[in-house]
Amino acid sequence: MEDRIRYPEIDEFIRNTIAREEGLLREMEEYARLNHIPVIAPETAALLKILVKVQRPQRILEVGTAIGYSALVMACASGGKAHIDTIEISEEMAGMAESNMKKSGFGSCVRVLRGDALEILQCLTTAYDMVFLDASKGQYPEFLPECLRLTREGGIILSDNVLYRGLVARNGQVEHKHRTIAVRLKEYLESLCSNPLLDTAIIPIGDGLALSYKK
Ligand SMILES: C[S@@+](CC[C@H](N)C(=O)[O-])C[C@H]1O[C@@H](n2cnc3c(N)ncnc32)[C@H](O)[C@@H]1O
Repeated sequence: MEDRIRYPEIDEFIRNTIAREEGLLREMEEYARLNHIPVIAPETAALLKILVKVQRPQRILEVGTAIGYSALVMACASGGKAHIDTIEISEEMAGMAESNMKKSGFGSCVRVLRGDALEILQCLTTAYDMVFLDASKGQYPEFLPECLRLTREGGIILSDNVLYRGLVARNGQVEHKHRTIAVRLKEYLESLCSNPLLDTAIIPIGDGLALSYKK
């Protein structure tokens, strides 16, 4: 099944038009592609970079590190000025992310927190300027109260994959194996959009990105 939500010719056009990553980030994209590791789409990376440049966060929290691609995109965009905490459950991924950070020269800005995101989120206490949610989609509704608590007023919460291959917008006819995630993401989007503490936009980029501003 196609893992993006929109039209292949538009995706191809955008990817051939926007400035693409070079060096280590490009190598990481290629590694992720060859090894079927789901990192953010190039067009999502381009948006993330701009958001970091506009928001100028001092502290970023990421849920779902994988090989550290999006963490490195954000570290580079901040010019190494942001401190990034990123949570990863897989020991193998966490190790690769740390080694990529070291290679990039941004190792001291990024701390990989190993373990289950919900348990780690519940232990964190210092607020963040930006939270990027990109882990197990079915758990987003459980992550939300913790992410809200950990985001300062005026901060933003980004949630990736919220349109889940377009299935979230499809009424009925969702294959059984995808139905629970699609239903949970739909509920998640409804709770983001109805939360009086948040202003939320849903952007059909990559696999769908929700951008929420905490008032
Ligand atoms: C989509 S990948 C992250 C991609 C990364 N943000 C990027 O774009 O470079 C999701 C990652 O979240 C991790 N993950 C999934 N569920 C998790 C959980 N409950 N706690 C911590 N990490 C989790 C997976 O092991 C996987 O590496």
